[in-house]
Order: sequence, then structure tokens, then C-alpha cells
Amino acid sequence: MSNRKKNQNSTAFNDYEAFAEAYVTRTNSNAYNAYYERPAMFSILPNVESKRVLDAGCAGGAYTEWLVNHNASVVAIDLSRKMVQLTQQRLGNRAQVYQADLSQPLSFLSDDSFDIVVSSLTLHYIKDWDGVLKEFHRLLSTSGLLFFSTHHPLMGFQVGKDDYFATELVEEEWTGFGNSPVRVRFYRKPLSAIASSLANTGFVIEQIIEPRPVEECKRLDPESYQKLSITPWFLIIQARAKQI
Ligand SMILES: C[S@@+](CC[C@H](N)C(=O)[O-])C[C@H]1O[C@@H](n2cnc3c(N)ncnc32)[C@H](O)[C@@H]1O
Repeated sequence: MSNRKKNQNSTAFNDYEAFAEAYVTRTNSNAYNAYYERPAMFSILPNVESKRVLDAGCAGGAYTEWLVNHNASVVAIDLSRKMVQLTQQRLGNRAQVYQADLSQPLSFLSDDSFDIVVSSLTLHYIKDWDGVLKEFHRLLSTSGLLFFSTHHPLMGFQVGKDDYFATELVEEEWTGFGNSPVRVRFYRKPLSAIASSLANTGFVIEQIIEPRPVEECKRLDPESYQKLSITPWFLIIQARAKQI
């Protein structure tokens, strides 16, 4: 599904505008999202009924919809205008959806205005996590919970070629999202950098999950099932905002 490269100059990376619809359709039923990341995240989320939840990096609203269907009061944000439109179409007035850049201050949102922040597969597009995590901390009430998924630090890591301890810009080409491959760039970080950013910004890690695909994946996509059963790919972290 993906070809990995490092630090190659190019344009039109992370152009979610261009493949937003294909992304939404495909991730509804693919191994990596539908049968691996999402079930793992859903399984650790607490009861969200009546909770104020920020969906940070909502894409086409799969998480937003799940949260709303579980009676949370949801604000969803995404950098991509197209993704925001898709989420608005999907949810109507059942959620507030805004276009916003998580690498910038989210000044339109008030301090202590959320009980939970959920951010699925989005933080790795941002190099400086201290900034965005500080914002999540500001937005969360004391003891509020942050759940995020990101690329596992060992995902594709090749001993002898990469510097595990560096925060590296990695490029991939994804196929299956339309006629031509789409190009994405993201930051791969060592586990210590992830833990340090959380500690620096007032979070205590409560749980680290290295997901496995759900059983249904074996029948629908046996190749991915086999790979994800033995290879670290994504990581999910639950962290609590402490008083600072
Ligand atoms: C892999 S998708 C997220 C998946 C989504 N949570 C889901 O499970 O359907 C990554 C999303 O992050 C968004 N994104 C990337 N960089 C961002 C940023 N700096 N601020 C806000 N959203 C960003 C992209 O537009 C894209 O919709």
C-alpha cells in the first residue's frame, strides 16, 4: 500500500483537499483504519455521554460521528477545507466543525472547555508537539483526558539506515485513493520524544496501546491482517492533564 522515502524534495504533499472523498470512502472499510486503528481507539474511550469532546484532525468525520452517536457534545477541527465540508455534511447541526490548523494557537476555543480531546492519526503531520499539546492542555479541564493515535516510532524503521533517535521527515506514496498515488509527509519521532512532549506540557501517560487488527480483518484482508498482527504500525496513547 505504501512506498517509503525520506527527505525528497517535492510539492503537493499531504493534499487532503485532493483526495478527501477517496480517503473517507476507503478508510470506512480498510484494514488500517476500519479494522485496526479505530476499533482499538473506540475500545479504550470512556463513556462520552454528555462529555465535551474535541476531535482534533477530524478528516471526514468518522470519529465525530461515533462521538455524537454516543451522545458527546463535539467540536471537530481539521486543516482541510474539504474535510471540514465533508464532516459538516455528515453531521449537519449535530456537531460544530471548524477549519483550523493545530500547529497554531486555537484561540477561538476557550480554556477548560473540553473533558476529552481525541486526535486520531493527525499529530504526526506536526513537527513541534509541545505547541499543540500545550493547547490541548489549555483546552482541557483539570484531569481531562487526551487520546491520540500516531505512527509507531518503529513503523518502517530500518536499522542502520535511519537514526531512530532523530525526529525525521518521512515521505510516503499511498495507493488506493484514486487513480494516481498520493504523496504524504509526516514526522517520525522516537518514543522518548513523544513522552517528553507530553511531560513538558503537563500530561501524565496513563496507557500506551500497540493495537492489533480485529479478527474480522483476517477474512477481509488477510495480507494486512498478517502484517499488522506482527508489525508495530500505529500507537495509541491515553494521557491525563494534570494541574500545572
Ligand atoms: C489521516 S487523517 C485523520 C484521520 C481521522 N481522524 C480519521 O480517523 O478518519 C489526517 C487528518 O489530519 C488533518 N491535518 C493534517 N495536518 C493538520 C493540522 N496541522 N491541523 C489540523 N488538521 C490537520 C488532515 O487534513 C487530515 O484530515
